[in-house]
Amino acid sequence: MRKKIVAGNWKMNMIPSKSIELVTEIHRELNRLGSRDAEIIICPPYTSLERVAKIIREMRGVYCGAQNCHQELSGAYTGEIAAPMLRELGIRYVILGHSERRQYFGETEEAIQQKVKTVLETGLNPIYCCGETLEEREAEEHFSVVEGQIKKALFELEEEQFRQVVIAYEPVWAIGTGKTATPEQAQEIHAYIRSLVANRYGEAVADKTSILYGGSCKPNNAASLFSQPDIDGGLIGGASLNADQFVQIIAAL
Ligand code: PGA
Repeated sequence: MRKKIVAGNWKMNMIPSKSIELVTEIHRELNRLGSRDAEIIICPPYTSLERVAKIIREMRGVYCGAQNCHQELSGAYTGEIAAPMLRELGIRYVILGHSERRQYFGETEEAIQQKVKTVLETGLNPIYCCGETLEEREAEEHFSVVEGQIKKALFELEEEQFRQVVIAYEPVWAIGTGKTATPEQAQEIHAYIRSLVANRYGEAVADKTSILYGGSCKPNNAASLFSQPDIDGGLIGGASLNADQFVQIIAAL
């Protein structure tokens, strides 16, 4: 059985004191929810990572992730954060290739590919994001766009390395827009991604690869998305900033 995961991406929200409040509230709501199968990942901004990671250590099945890191292990890159710095804080996951990074910070597929390698070499797990823009979907290029992204960033990895990767399919047109892919649209592309993985690494690896959906996933649509056979959880933006909504999404898995 592959891992079911719900990851919260807080983006550039939450000053450190607010981060502590939010993670404490999530802790309380999770205790109220009781038993669950899903692994939970919380990705606060860098400035809150250390404190949130410390609190999370007390929470069963909950891990801390970063939202990005640099592709080099260290060096003269003013303002950047390297993977070993994250590792020492007890961080386990790093979101890479988020469409906001691609769109607003000009991250190229080459840089993302290097980041994936560096993160793996540091002993962390990448959450690799892929997904098409609205224009690409309208031109019916979504399969080829996602295929190109995944092949470039992931398919040069050794099998052992690839097994450490979580994939997140996030159609750009659904992120923060309130427009969600329908469960059928998402399932179709998740199944396609899994078939690509099967072709490259074999059925057994594909069967173990967690593929998350992201893009306006909310308490009212999470259950129908998560009921699809190839959707193994979600990468949640806006709704992860509210403990009640975030835990409702976890409960839907
Ligand atoms: P959203 O963000 O849930 O606010 O659409 C998802 C994401 O960017 O990961």
